[in-house]
Amino acid sequence: SMTKVGIIVGSLRTNSFSKQVADNVASLFPEGYVTEFVEIGHLPLFNQDFEGDLGTPAEYTDFRNAIKELDAVLFVTPEYNRSIPAALKNALDVASRPYGESVWNGKPAAIISQSPGALAGFGANHHLRQVLSFLNMPVVQQPEAYIGSVHELLDEKGNLNEGTIEFLQGFVNEFVELIKKY
Ligand code: FNR
Repeated sequence: SMTKVGIIVGSLRTNSFSKQVADNVASLFPEGYVTEFVEIGHLPLFNQDFEGDLGTPAEYTDFRNAIKELDAVLFVTPEYNRSIPAALKNALDVASRPYGESVWNGKPAAIISQSPGALAGFGANHHLRQVLSFLNMPVVQQPEAYIGSVHELLDEKGNLNEGTIEFLQGFVNEFVELIKKY
């Protein structure tokens, strides 16, 4: 059956560069793979009281179930103040709980950071790596995907230029190799 790769975009912005990059990458997976965007913007801010008196929000249950069904997760994120956006950290926290029941556990992952700037979201990329290591997710190590000056690589239709696509195809191929090991 099909291998299911969830794509989580770290930006909630309608015309997000991260989303545009993710749309391009979604089409680079080989036969036998299906990609699915998993939304994070509607998740209430994590509050541990949801594990007690307040009860579990339906959005949490649906999100955890959606992650549980994935074979792998691709993160495409911008950098906010040299780290990952709060919405992304919130989603990571939500699906890591209750204690001992994290649905991230053991799922292979890959990270693409992007920025209109030159540093290409390096800080966000590595802060995310730190979190995924604790969540016990094997992450593609090489090649690393830092997409800088992203606005210059996308055309009006949201298509990335040929060189970037070629690079990202190699990145996806390595991700597929990692997924096959798990
Ligand atoms: C930014 N931006 C930014 N860029 C960067 O390279 N390093 C950074 O630390 C930050 N910090 C930052 C904080 C906040 C709160 C915002 C809103 C933006 C700029 C950011 O890269 C730019 O807005 C991107 O377009 C965001 O990605 P999306 O929304 O296009 O996917």
